[in-house]
Amino acid sequence: MSVAQEKTSAEIANSVKDMKDIVALCKRRGFVFPASDIYGGLNGFWDYGPLGVELKNNLRDLWWKWMVTCPPVGPDGQPVDIVGIDSSIIQNPKTWEASGHVGGFSDPMVDCRETKLRYRADHLSIIYWIGETFAVAIFDDWDEDTIAKRLKKLGVSKKIGDAGYTRIQGIQVAGAGQPGLDRTYGPDAKEIGTLTEPKQFNLMFHTFVGATGGDDNKAYLRPETAQGIFLNFKNVLDSSRVRVPFGIAQVGKAFRNEVNPRNFIFRSREFEQMEMEWFCHPSEAKMWRDFWFAERQKFWTAIGLVSENVRMRDHDKDELSHYAKEGLGTADIEYRFPFTAPGFGELEGIAHRCNFDLTQHQKHSGVKMEYTDPMDPKNKFIPDVIEPAAGLTRGVLALLCEAYTPDPNRPSGVYLNLHPALAPKKAAILPLTAKDQHPVIATKLYMDIRNEFAVDLDIKQNIGKRYARQDEIGTPYCFTIDDQTVSDQTVTVRERNTMSQERIGLDHVAEYLRKHIRSV
Ligand code: GAP
Repeated sequence: MSVAQEKTSAEIANSVKDMKDIVALCKRRGFVFPASDIYGGLNGFWDYGPLGVELKNNLRDLWWKWMVTCPPVGPDGQPVDIVGIDSSIIQNPKTWEASGHVGGFSDPMVDCRETKLRYRADHLSIIYWIGETFAVAIFDDWDEDTIAKRLKKLGVSKKIGDAGYTRIQGIQVAGAGQPGLDRTYGPDAKEIGTLTEPKQFNLMFHTFVGATGGDDNKAYLRPETAQGIFLNFKNVLDSSRVRVPFGIAQVGKAFRNEVNPRNFIFRSREFEQMEMEWFCHPSEAKMWRDFWFAERQKFWTAIGLVSENVRMRDHDKDELSHYAKEGLGTADIEYRFPFTAPGFGELEGIAHRCNFDLTQHQKHSGVKMEYTDPMDPKNKFIPDVIEPAAGLTRGVLALLCEAYTPDPNRPSGVYLNLHPALAPKKAAILPLTAKDQHPVIATKLYMDIRNEFAVDLDIKQNIGKRYARQDEIGTPYCFTIDDQTVSDQTVTVRERNTMSQERIGLDHVAEYLRKHIRSV
């Protein structure tokens, strides 16, 4: 292998992590369960278990801290100004007409007449052999091995690597020298020609408000948290002391009737977002866009994503959303998930939305969205917006994938290398045996520190099994109470990653945790 082809350590690590193992650990230890599991689940919906909700809340709280309670220092050396809101999931349906979601929030879809499955046209590729009639539709991210297996299953004798085949992104393949959809195998089909032409499919879930279910009462579950912020722009300006430039942040649920919910919690139909709309003068949009690019990348690496697994990617012109077309464009922060490795998948988008949303809401509501410069009342303008929009639940997945560390040298065979600030439990208190003084001392220690730290008191089972459980849930420190504790009031501290042990005084445990469980 040449130097250029050599894989980095992060690439290798992430390609050996198997999503099946990560999903299994999440279920086994109570991070993430399939929603409505006892009824066989519901595609695209997930529940967060006792540890998953802690991890998700920790990520949410750190984001909130970085954005709202302790926002970064801006280019002028002063902390920037950001306030939070929590808006309704269901808003007046005119919101979504103004925002463009009713008319435009749709994906091109193809249906398979045989399997009744529906695919996003832009997530499929077509492989076809030049000069022959057949083609195979595959998912964009299928690797060569998966494609080879698929071809074998279909009884297609051509192999990847045979000369004369070509791969085309997107399903609109009918064209000169290309087979039409009537000569195409769908990704899951046995018959040829079962795929339909692409059709647009709106991603918003709708519901009805009130007792009568007519079209007049139709409303939508929000597909993004951002619009609740734009709707409250005036209220926030009028009720707080913020002045442009400033930001409004929100964390909450969003709903999209995704065509192909896939890859565990990466793309689900109900998920959570962490979005901030930064309102600034149009002449400063570029400066602020660059600023937020850098800040957001800093955040993800500070909380534990290895920088080699994080990258920035500018959107191509044809990928830009309707609101970003006129502006400076959008860049994504991407993470190398095990199912995208060696490639990357989107984690957060940083978009220049220009003044699209405020202008649209002004037009549709009749309410003026102009900002008046307090130093110069003649200077009125509709601010531009820079939007860092991250997935909270997708962030949880990135953190879990990054933390998942196979290790054959320990009984669990794996541990979660979570940053202590994110770990659901900061420490476990483990009496070596369930008899004598061990549980008494352990319980006292637990009662002394539980008010300050999320700690687990785990008394039963052999110590190896208890260490294994803590390793698998990412607990950074285990304190073990043994016979020596009874005689000299010291405990052992076991560090998760190295498994190294040292003894410290019982009365130093809280101080030890204060020192080691630092926030970011
Ligand atoms: N307000 C802009 C906006 O919503 P987006 O790129 O559609 O932009 C922002 O969404 C982030 O929300 C994405 O980067 C991703 O992390 C997360 N996200 C979007 N769709 C998702 C889905 N179906 N499941 C999980 N997370 C999703």
